[in-house]
Amino acid sequence: MRMSIQKRLEKELTRLSQQNAYRKLPRPTEGLDFCSNDYLGLAKNKSLQTIIQKEFSSQNLSHNGATGSRLLSGNNEYYEATECCMANYFEDESALLLNSGYMANIALLSSVPNRRDTIIYDQACHASIKDGIRLSQARHTPFKHNDLNDLHRKLKQASGNIFIMVESIYSMLGDCCPLAEIVSLAQQFDAEIILDEAHSTGIYGQHGQGLAHSMELHDHIFARIFTFGKAIGSHGAAILGSNQLIKYLINKARPFIYTTALPLHSVVSIRCGLNFISEHPSLLNQLWKNMEIFNKNKPNTLNIGNSARSPIQSITIPTNESVQMASQEINNLGYQVLPIRSPTVPKGQECIRICLHADHTKQQLIGLLEALQKVTASI
Ligand SMILES: Cc1ncc(COP(=O)(O)O)c(C=O)c1O
Repeated sequence: MRMSIQKRLEKELTRLSQQNAYRKLPRPTEGLDFCSNDYLGLAKNKSLQTIIQKEFSSQNLSHNGATGSRLLSGNNEYYEATECCMANYFEDESALLLNSGYMANIALLSSVPNRRDTIIYDQACHASIKDGIRLSQARHTPFKHNDLNDLHRKLKQASGNIFIMVESIYSMLGDCCPLAEIVSLAQQFDAEIILDEAHSTGIYGQHGQGLAHSMELHDHIFARIFTFGKAIGSHGAAILGSNQLIKYLINKARPFIYTTALPLHSVVSIRCGLNFISEHPSLLNQLWKNMEIFNKNKPNTLNIGNSARSPIQSITIPTNESVQMASQEINNLGYQVLPIRSPTVPKGQECIRICLHADHTKQQLIGLLEALQKVTASI
């Protein structure tokens, strides 16, 4: 007999609860922020807020919202000028603004590779990448996380145009991709690299132009995705690539074509945020100093991944129940951290995801490490 839809939803929600995987919207909690992606503190930076407001008022706006898709009523000279600034900033031919990193990955992956092509992606890639691949007609295959031998094996089996999809810094594990080696494999197999720079935007490179730029490898990357809701403290994303790629996306990428453009306020915030980072190099220096302090002082007993050069530090605590309990106890000690449960990460890799910020003090970092040590020892 057919189950009513309400019953079916209830049954699934009960199953999630039983597996400690039920999601509910959290209330803001007290304590030091070690969980948000606001790595440079720009989302709450008062001077930047004032700069954004001034810039926004100077634009003489007649609308609050964009009023339509960029291809209809939603375009504005300011968007195009910002995209030119981004192309200069990230050193690429062209840029295209998208409403979020999620949309950017879906836009690119669903429209560029065709059914004769192959996408080879790191198995630890973000959900938006996996969803974009699902919408693509291309053949696709994962390779083991950061495993160059497995990538090599998959490249040998691939056909058509080949795309290698990787992230600069993996959002849950906090480790970097071995970009130089991936570039050399891509050259060997004539493959194109798509690099999601979500967690390296604003962090790697002299002015935060990302991992590829910091290694002077950006010319070898087919497309880079930068997101502005993390270190830039705003919202939205951009795809950087050739003039041809950007014109193609404007014509073919459904998440660009069939949606209302970002409100101008967001575009102003992104542009001011990027300028702010260039003009305040001390922010980046301070974040890198904090990564060093954290890594120098972390005890061996903590099961932390290979994330010495990353603002994301991931401490594995297997099982949803244990990771939830541990994070609650750390919160009780005054540090806001979040448990990452399965199925967001594979079973057995449940973790506490810690985000280091530029404005954390040494004392706060050491305090967190002590709290982590105390709580994990008792589990
Ligand atoms: C690697 C990666 N790519 C893309 C996204 C999506 O970016 P946005 O939050 O701008 O949609 C995220 C967000 O968490 C991410 O971690």
